[in-house]
Amino acid sequence: MSSAAAFAPLSVSAADTPVEAADVPCPAAAAAEQAAAPLAVLGRDVRVPLVTGGEVTYAALDYAASAPALQRVWDDVAAYAPYYGSVHRGAGYLSQLSTELFEQSRHAVAEFLGCREGDQVVFTRATTDSLNLLSAALPEGARVFVFETEHHASLLPWRRHDVTYLDAPRSPEQAVATLESALHGAPAGPKLVCVTGASNVTGEVWPVRELARAAHRHGARIVLDAAQLAPHRPVHLDELEVDWVAFSGHKLYAPFGAGVLAGRADWLRDAEPYLAGGGASRRVARRNDGGIDVEWHTNAARHEAGSPNVIGAYALASACRALSEAGFETLVAREEELLARLRAGLAEVPEVSVLSLFGEGADQVGVLSFVVDGWNSSHFAAALSAEHGIGVRDGLFCAHPLLRTLLGQDGDTPGECGAPEAAPGERSLNAIRVSFGAGTPDEHVDRFVSAVRQLVREGARWNYRTEDGRCVPLAAADAADVANAAA
Ligand SMILES: Cc1ncc(COP(=O)(O)O)c(C=O)c1O
Repeated sequence: MSSAAAFAPLSVSAADTPVEAADVPCPAAAAAEQAAAPLAVLGRDVRVPLVTGGEVTYAALDYAASAPALQRVWDDVAAYAPYYGSVHRGAGYLSQLSTELFEQSRHAVAEFLGCREGDQVVFTRATTDSLNLLSAALPEGARVFVFETEHHASLLPWRRHDVTYLDAPRSPEQAVATLESALHGAPAGPKLVCVTGASNVTGEVWPVRELARAAHRHGARIVLDAAQLAPHRPVHLDELEVDWVAFSGHKLYAPFGAGVLAGRADWLRDAEPYLAGGGASRRVARRNDGGIDVEWHTNAARHEAGSPNVIGAYALASACRALSEAGFETLVAREEELLARLRAGLAEVPEVSVLSLFGEGADQVGVLSFVVDGWNSSHFAAALSAEHGIGVRDGLFCAHPLLRTLLGQDGDTPGECGAPEAAPGERSLNAIRVSFGAGTPDEHVDRFVSAVRQLVREGARWNYRTEDGRCVPLAAADAADVANAAA
């Protein structure tokens, strides 16, 4: 039997605990393939069927959507699981242990983010939730400034306020100048700038500290959408000089349903709780007139009503620790190697156009989008998956205005995520995104580049159709009919 006292949260690795970690197979071949990746992730030995016959090891190149779990995160969660209990609401030993673990996770995240004295770390569901929470906490009359290039999660939550949408800049310097001039003419009163740290479309890194300084010069505050930055670069509130930061566990190798909003406490403390309910309230009583009086917490719990997601928070803290221990210098160097390999490979295919806002030489994380001349992106991505076992993303990446700008289409051009109504071979309003990170071996990038080359030179080897807005391979019998008809 496991002893609860033996579980030492956040101080020892799962391998040292008496609790058995989940049995995740790791054949030698997969281990060798993984050798070049700085961190081990789950799923590296998963085999997937090919529509053309046989199977292949899956190449996960869609980290920007959801990164695979770190082995370390999985082991930590497995080690804790037997001790799981309620948080902030139980007298039992395991409830106390889980409460302590939850609060320790909050401290670990605060440390990862370089939080300042008085900052709060609120656990949410993900970045979208964090930014909606902040929007709900803005003071009366607040004005919000946001670039049209943002992911919808940071573009849309502000619509109940007075929002200024800023045009897509074509360089980091232009981004700062655009923000300066918008803030310069803004009336007095509370102001918030929302900016992404790294684009989920181009992977380009934004000049966060310069934007923060511009915001502060004009009396505005700034929130950083670090959904794509945090898995690739250090994100320190004090060094970047931002007021808040939001990010998601599932993009940071911790897919257990937790996210974070961290930063200044005052607007959060003064706002109505994001969700009303148990955990957010300190005292609730009937009034003499029959109504209800509520005294809300003033710390992070104010916005964490309901039973906290302790496993999500613990997993997230474990990922923060793993990334810090691996060292961002190592992670960045490795990623730059992969990016150079990818760029060099794609440069040899003239039909490929890489999407970029800031142009050649821009600082970039492991996220890259492109279109292929003569191909519907949805068709191309479907063929990468079905014929090569490579998982990428296609569509507009929940950044429709940015994609329209990059692809040169106006707002009236039809086309939604996927846009596969266009016949395969016809260009449509969508692109292909490849993204990777700390668990990516060279082989995945190399296989991707050679698959792109082969598809462009020889075409798809299978037939595809549109189903529920997505391009999918035809069933074998239908594909044979198409081939016979074509013969
Ligand atoms: C830059 C950026 N911000 C916000 C989000 C939203 O993150 P989530 O879906 O985890 O809420 C994403 C997701 O792709 C993103 O790439």
